Amino acid sequence: MSMLNSFVGWVDERFPLTKVWNEHLAQYYAPKNFNFWYYFGSLAILMLVNQIVTGIWLTMNYKPDAETAFASVEYIMRDVDWGWLLRYLHSTGASFFFIVVYLHMFRGLLYGSFQKPRELLWILGMFIYLALMAEAFMGYLLPWGQMSYWGAQVIISLFGAVPVVGEDIALWIRGDYVISDATLNRFFAFHVIALPLVLVMLVFVHIVALHEVGSNNPDGVEIKKGPKGNRWADDKPADGIPFHPYYSVKDIVGVVVFLAVFSLVVFFLPEFGGWFLEPDNFIPADPLKTPEHIVPLWYFTPFYAILRAVPDKFLGVVAMFAAIAVLFVLPWLDRSGVKSIRYKGLIFKVALAIFVVSFVMLGFFGTQPATPTFTMFARIFTVLYFLFFLLMPIYSKMDKTKPVPERVSK
Ligand code: HEM
Repeated sequence: MSMLNSFVGWVDERFPLTKVWNEHLAQYYAPKNFNFWYYFGSLAILMLVNQIVTGIWLTMNYKPDAETAFASVEYIMRDVDWGWLLRYLHSTGASFFFIVVYLHMFRGLLYGSFQKPRELLWILGMFIYLALMAEAFMGYLLPWGQMSYWGAQVIISLFGAVPVVGEDIALWIRGDYVISDATLNRFFAFHVIALPLVLVMLVFVHIVALHEVGSNNPDGVEIKKGPKGNRWADDKPADGIPFHPYYSVKDIVGVVVFLAVFSLVVFFLPEFGGWFLEPDNFIPADPLKTPEHIVPLWYFTPFYAILRAVPDKFLGVVAMFAAIAVLFVLPWLDRSGVKSIRYKGLIFKVALAIFVVSFVMLGFFGTQPATPTFTMFARIFTVLYFLFFLLMPIYSKMDKTKPVPERVSK
């Protein structure tokens, strides 16, 4: 023990090891009333690590070449020791990453975690979300299956709808007139190095921003503004408890339950009925044969449904990007005086419920063929999706909120 202490002392004189440990873990005071919804931040870190580690090992046998990519993935699945497990951890991991991030974002909506002083924290989160979407989109081309090829073809050619410069942009992204080996090579470069770096750096900054303002909580009460003094320190929030060991241990419970569910899918249902790995992607890419239905994976389908719901191609592209962009300005749309849904009124609760139903239904319609009935429903839900945001400055002001307690509840 004394050898360890003197080693830490030696390091501390040269690097702020104990200082960082204390500031961000042992003496980071988080509100004492975190609930279920607060598991998903640490689970998102877990999924990021899972994707990076399994990705490194997949790259050891994957070949980023249009001639050999598909076969190299089959080789990983059949011949590489534990290759099937690495691949299923990575492909299932991608879907679970999005499930976790969507729930993490939804928690933000529930408890107003995007409101002052956490606007920048939310915006950083939105940049993470954008980077994650780019990462998943590029990764999906790599197995070079039919859906990899045609999904990328459809999405990149959307840029062609932009007036004047559109075709040039699409050409610039692909590096060719169609999706080709050049596209595969650059997507590989972005997927394995550029975007993971960006993601890791953004997550780091996200946590720094969080620790600057402090965590919100299910009551939406700012513990830093409340009374001071707890059993560990007189000058720290009375309603705060040290992150370590209290929440580090609590998060382990979340990790164990999560890993149980995750393992069930990885070992017993890795394709998840075509939702996590699409059947068409087990057919090698064929530039001369378009699949009957080109559908992105489930985490993109709400936005894909919005794209298809708008009759004009260019306006559809604008609507799809606007659906994501509007989330960036959310902190300035909510004008209710309270943060947490616990103290918001009926109007907000109904609006949030309609939004959730719209988002889920859009996700479903995005996976279905665009029949006239489905298109009509997709249009209705697209309008509802946007109304949730655009009317928010009005209804959040009208909403009858309840008085917020001074201290967090137990
Ligand atoms: C790789 C993805 C992400 C990782 C690893 C991550 C990590 C974390 C962690 C560890 C926390 C603290 C624990 C918690 O409150 O659950 C947190 C809080 C937060 N994150 Fe993220 N996050 C990610 C994506 C996002 C996204 C996409 C958004 C929103 C657009 C977001 C918004 C927030 C907000 C607002 C908080 C503070 C919540 C509160 O205190 O109530 N994060 N994040």
